[in-house]
Amino acid sequence: MFIGDVVGSPGREGLTATMPLLRAEHKPDLIIVNGENAAGGVGITEQTAEEIFAAGAQVITLGNHAYRQREAFGFLNADERVVRPLNHSPESPGRGWTIVEAGGMRVAVVNLSGAVQLQVDRNPFAAIDELLEEMDGRADAVFVDFHAEVTSEKVAMGWHLDGRVAAVCGTHTHVPTADPRILPGGTAHITDVGMTGSRDGVLGVKRAGALESLRTGLPVRFETAGEDVWVMGCLIEVRDDGLSTRIEQILLPTA
Ligand SMILES: [Fe+2]
Ligand SMILES: [Fe+2]
Repeated sequence: MFIGDVVGSPGREGLTATMPLLRAEHKPDLIIVNGENAAGGVGITEQTAEEIFAAGAQVITLGNHAYRQREAFGFLNADERVVRPLNHSPESPGRGWTIVEAGGMRVAVVNLSGAVQLQVDRNPFAAIDELLEEMDGRADAVFVDFHAEVTSEKVAMGWHLDGRVAAVCGTHTHVPTADPRILPGGTAHITDVGMTGSRDGVLGVKRAGALESLRTGLPVRFETAGEDVWVMGCLIEVRDDGLSTRIEQILLPTA
């Protein structure tokens, strides 16, 4: 089970409230949650990560907001259950991938950032190719959270990795796309799973601030929106050979 960007305390509370239901219904072997917006809407802290782990996550992925909370740098370095984009600078705190045991398999979880309209240190296509070579049999299945802005790059990454990884799931836009599918080579793909946050605002922030910023072009301090929180993500069925047979979207109101 993969859950998209948890936005602020409404997102964390929505996740905590909904996860018992999702776990009982689907009995996932592995739960991966994107937490790049967990702390007040930008970044993550040790405390907000603990809340996500307590809800059932085994691994937390991040994105372009990974280092917004400086206090979390030590935590990102220390905790192997948290991954930030692989193709950020090697000087950045934390790691780009990790391996967890789930369902009798060694599953590699990779966080990768798109290069179009986002700042990266390396081209994501080259970075993931190099990593897959470096892994060399250390994982039975590979999950990739591709945190990227534009749909073209996200669809392209699915094709690039088809037949080589279990899943390529997009995050970052906070808006779910209607294209979950198993590619011909056996890789589950979705352009974006969406977010875990309020649908009452704009991408999880209160609409008044977002509208003011877009109307005036002036800087505005965004506040996290709290109404109409949904959990968005997907469920993927992975075979023993590390490829996938099924991907299903999760789009669930929390109240
Ligand atoms: Fe996000
Ligand atoms: Fe992002």
